Amino acid sequence: MNVKKFIMTLLLLVPLAGFAVDFQDGLRGATPLDQTTQPPPIANTDNSDVRRVRNYAMQPPVVPHKIEGYQLDKNANKCMMCHARTRTQESQAPMISVTHFMDRQGNFLAELSPRRYFCLQCHVPQADLKPLVENEFVDVDSILSKSTKPSLAPAKKK
Ligand code: HEC
Ligand code: HEC
Repeated sequence: MNVKKFIMTLLLLVPLAGFAVDFQDGLRGATPLDQTTQPPPIANTDNSDVRRVRNYAMQPPVVPHKIEGYQLDKNANKCMMCHARTRTQESQAPMISVTHFMDRQGNFLAELSPRRYFCLQCHVPQADLKPLVENEFVDVDSILSKSTKPSLAPAKKK
């Protein structure tokens, strides 16, 4: 490496080093990058059995019950013991919807599609925690009721 190249490399690396020292990740907090964070205690998840409102029609509903100890791997799917079509009378759980039987070409299969096997990819239990990132989500009904156009949202009772 000639001197010019060496100086150029130094000039490039110095600001990067400064960045690494100052950098603070919102998720790991103030712990320096070379140290391991102390994870908070595992949260007590909601077990109220009250199905929560969905924020938009296509949202996977969140899980309103505890799932601790439920086996979900290639050998067994505990969720399907209650949510499968044939199990819902006994369990009184809502059945997995029709989309869960569709393959990626839109064909309906006789049973749960493999791409919907790992339920927790999309459905998550809830806990009462302080959000790490502020949420500015606004429900479409609020937007519709603010707009001047006639609203499709159900009329509010007076
Ligand atoms: C022992 C039976 C049982 C098992 C096992 C079970 N569930 Fe449930 N689930 C229910 C019942 C009953 C409800 C209806 C609400 C309630 O009672 O909690 C429900 C509700 C839900 C809902 C809310 C649906 C909605 O429309 O809001 C989701 C999502 C869900 N479960 C996902 C799961 C996942 C994921 C697993 C596996 C990790 C699982 N469940 C395992 C019985 C079960
Ligand atoms: C790839 C994402 C994904 C996976 C994986 C998935 N779901 Fe869903 N699920 C959804 C979405 C999106 C909805 C809401 C729209 C719909 O019905 O397709 C939903 C809806 C549901 C509902 C509500 C049905 C209703 O009619 O109200 C239940 C119950 C449910 N899922 C259970 C499960 C279970 C149990 C598994 C695992 C066997 C699973 N889901 C896997 C995305 C997923």
